[in-house]
Amino acid sequence: MTDPEARIAELRAEVAHHNHLYHELDAPELPDADFDALARELRALEAEFPEYAVPDSPALAVGGAASTAFAPVTHAVPMTSLDNAMDADELRAWADRVVRGLGGRTPTFVCELKIDGLAMSLRYEGGELVQAATRGDGRVGENVTANVRTIADIPHRLTAPATGMPDVVEVRGEVYMSTAVFEALNDEYAAAGERPLVNPRNAAAGSLRQKDPEATARRRLSFWAYQLGDVVGGPEFTTHHETLEFIGAIGFPVNPEIRSFESIDDVAAFCLDRQEHRHALAYEIDGVVVKVDDLAQREELGYTSRAPRWAIAYKFPPEERTTLLRDIQVSVGRTGRATPFAVLEPVFVGGSTVAMATLHNQDQVAIKDVRLGDTVIVRKAGDVIPEVVGPVLSLRPDGVEPWTFPTECPACGNPLVRPEGEADTRCVAPDCPAQRDQKVAYWASRGAMDIEGLGEQMVEKLTAAGLVRDPADLYSLTVEQLVELERVGETSAANLVAEIDRSRQQPLWRLLTALGVRHLGPAASQALATEFHTLDAIREKSIDELAAVEGVGTVIATTVHEWLQLEANQAYLERLRDAGLNFGDPEAAKAAAEARAAVPQTLEGRAVVVTGAVPGHTRESAEEAIVLRGGKSPGSVSKKTYALVVGEGAGASKLTKAEANGTPIVSAERFDDLLADPDAVVAEVAAAGEG
Ligand code: IVH
Repeated sequence: MTDPEARIAELRAEVAHHNHLYHELDAPELPDADFDALARELRALEAEFPEYAVPDSPALAVGGAASTAFAPVTHAVPMTSLDNAMDADELRAWADRVVRGLGGRTPTFVCELKIDGLAMSLRYEGGELVQAATRGDGRVGENVTANVRTIADIPHRLTAPATGMPDVVEVRGEVYMSTAVFEALNDEYAAAGERPLVNPRNAAAGSLRQKDPEATARRRLSFWAYQLGDVVGGPEFTTHHETLEFIGAIGFPVNPEIRSFESIDDVAAFCLDRQEHRHALAYEIDGVVVKVDDLAQREELGYTSRAPRWAIAYKFPPEERTTLLRDIQVSVGRTGRATPFAVLEPVFVGGSTVAMATLHNQDQVAIKDVRLGDTVIVRKAGDVIPEVVGPVLSLRPDGVEPWTFPTECPACGNPLVRPEGEADTRCVAPDCPAQRDQKVAYWASRGAMDIEGLGEQMVEKLTAAGLVRDPADLYSLTVEQLVELERVGETSAANLVAEIDRSRQQPLWRLLTALGVRHLGPAASQALATEFHTLDAIREKSIDELAAVEGVGTVIATTVHEWLQLEANQAYLERLRDAGLNFGDPEAAKAAAEARAAVPQTLEGRAVVVTGAVPGHTRESAEEAIVLRGGKSPGSVSKKTYALVVGEGAGASKLTKAEANGTPIVSAERFDDLLADPDAVVAEVAAAGEG
């Protein structure tokens, strides 16, 4: 075991160093999760070995010292940090301490989203914004008033509340950059060949530290208010809810996703639910902040040396970590595109172990300037594929060279080409084995024909043995042929033949997807199959007719039309038809038209969005019922949405959006009434809303 005293010293140095980089220079080298791990280890060791504890340990520091670029501001009320709970057990342990601290009473808990930005203190005197300050070390922050004045969400003058304007009000909240702005800025930077912003949080912090307020203005920052600081005069509050209502009334945006609970189990369930849906928001969150609602109870609980006892941050698992970049390789896909990817020292991030991550294309590698041997930041957010964000430059070993893109296809050795003005480099050899293998593997993949047991390795064996040149060949494979292959037994051979046979019955949309037509994914394939029912019908349609289908559009319509007209593809399709694949049911087209004619078209041209459970329906049958009546049932709310049907387990973001747009919100209990007489139900809802 290492000497605890030495480890504590080492950790103190590291934590202090990274604190400085993060809070003072806005140039963190480590993702938050890595930093948190260091600070937690240090706090744990200091607790275990109090003989080595010191009063000014960096583990207790709230932020960084104020930099010298902006004038210092001493906070009238210190801005403390929050303790973290990394899982539900730590959350429960916190709640137990709270209940004990309150002599056995369970408080009302308020849950708020933990916005991933930076804390800001806004001081108003006589209703006028006089000072905006960062948190700094919690006691002294930086005066960033001129920059903060450019943030549209932050009022320069408060709306007077009914209770009268307090002499002094300090509103605290989070300055953040929305995901849309972050992406738009990064697109701009990429086009200009500039290094991208690492993440919205760093981008927001960096934007506030600009010397020129105009530069801050261009970064289009936003703000959510969540707390009061110093207040002189004005109303008295007894709960957090009341303060938030007040903050809203004087002109601040307060995040709507706020919930109260009486039990910590409900709090934990809410945290998990928000974690699951964290990417459904227009901005990044890194957790849920749980607070005691009652202000007198807060007072009873008080503060530790670094944070209030009455609040805790439930942190989501990290989506960014650092790891070692071992190699950069290039893979060739089914369209010949050569994609560079990073081979990494495996790291657990975003809920799974990541050993490879895409680097997108040649320019991306150059802009990010990642080199073999670099420590890199890896990001995996939700279902999004893992990505290398960039190198940690200060950890780069001496003498590493920039990486250069290969000039030859790694699979067939033919030259790679990059057409002028295009981002992608391609292998254009018609017989490239990588392209052929990828086409077959794509055909068999989950989102296409879903043939189990036909992964990339099996495909390689089949093509290498000359048994398969394209997907149509799969349908004449025999068990006898398969058992000849290396490490393929009787059972797996029989299973594979059965699986391939089963795929003959896959619905038309899967066949359409599996063809691998450029731009044509599962969603558009489903739309085409639902509208036209057979492949032959789709082939007869013009580009305009195809593009008129909801979810298709001109780009997809053009590539689909051209692909289907190409002679070589017609021959390929005939081989697939001969192999017995499902090209759609001509009878279904007639039947659908008849079913529609039998039902009044009450929802003609109207879009009804469904969220949550509809009694007596599955999600599919509810959507079918809408479509059967001439309506559409898109997956998201827009300005054009006719009504939102809301059942149990409804998505908060759809509801928020509908409310913001003034879309009628109909309870799922009334679904059948809505189908029968939508105008009446919508009028009723509108009347209830006004009353
Ligand atoms: S309350 C004493 N509420 O998280 C309570 N903080 O890790 C102080 N944050 O410094 C903060 N969203 O920058 C609170 N809804 C929210 C928040 C929030 C984000 C940030 C804030 C704070 C940090 C603590």
